[in-house]
Amino acid sequence: MIYQRAVTTDSPYRNPAAATIYRRLAAPAQFAKPARDLVTLLHLPDGAIVLDVGSGTGAFAGPASEAVGQSGLVVALDLSIEMLQASDTAGRCRRVVGQTPGLPFRDHAFDAVGASFVLPHCRDHKAALADMARVCRSGGRVGITAWGAKPNAAGQLWTQMAAAFADEDRTRQAFHGVLPRQEWFALVDNFERTLDGAGLVDIHVETRDYTVEMMPADYIAMKEAGTDGAVIRQMIEPDAWDAFRRRVNEAFRERFAGALRFVRDVHFGVATKS
Ligand SMILES: C[S@@+](CC[C@H](N)C(=O)[O-])C[C@H]1O[C@@H](n2cnc3c(N)ncnc32)[C@H](O)[C@@H]1O
Repeated sequence: MIYQRAVTTDSPYRNPAAATIYRRLAAPAQFAKPARDLVTLLHLPDGAIVLDVGSGTGAFAGPASEAVGQSGLVVALDLSIEMLQASDTAGRCRRVVGQTPGLPFRDHAFDAVGASFVLPHCRDHKAALADMARVCRSGGRVGITAWGAKPNAAGQLWTQMAAAFADEDRTRQAFHGVLPRQEWFALVDNFERTLDGAGLVDIHVETRDYTVEMMPADYIAMKEAGTDGAVIRQMIEPDAWDAFRRRVNEAFRERFAGALRFVRDVHFGVATKS
């Protein structure tokens, strides 16, 4: 069962095919390890009640439910019911459709609140984080992550191919519409500023590198189904989209032999509600 609240935000994640590919390819390759590390950094005690905001397919909710054990509870919230339906947390977590800001919970309801790779999606990231802090109890912990700005060869090749098919400025604008705070959170200094601005204390910020390994076909399928693909697809005609996909496949075959292997940096911020 999934509890549903009305959500006002449109999102490329509101798509069953995108959600399935996220769970099968993106989550294990890129999101699972940082989410697990965020759980560790939050030091969730046995029996804790935890909220996972923007839970997606459960990269954070899964390990969080292991950490809090049978006596604890994890609530997995996302604005996309499709992502929650694709998640494997059904038996272990309460699932709720909702959004931040506007979390459908009373003040101080949770011992800890996590949001892994979510705040860059929020136009008003301050209001989003303030609402996460509101539902956290005094002395409870709030944790967030976001990608850093380290470039990688696979991402650069995708961007280069996209530029051959869609106007770069329009692409940048459309991408900004989906991830309005990506650039803000790519700068680690903004983590401390943002957590401090929400009135949180005992702030810990760090950056870790993760090696991603994927077959090129899986990487391309992940990009096509994700925010990058959604942005390009809405800007060009269906024929051009088909040609783009063909060119991307050729370019990756020409450039990379075997599996892709690259490093991505992830910023973490954890803090305490005073
Ligand atoms: C990049 S995915 C991350 C999913 C998951 N946390 C993980 O680490 O795999 C971002 C998720 O946040 C959700 N999301 C974006 N903005 C949101 C908001 N304001 N409130 C709730 N969920 C949101 C999206 O629907 C999507 O599932």
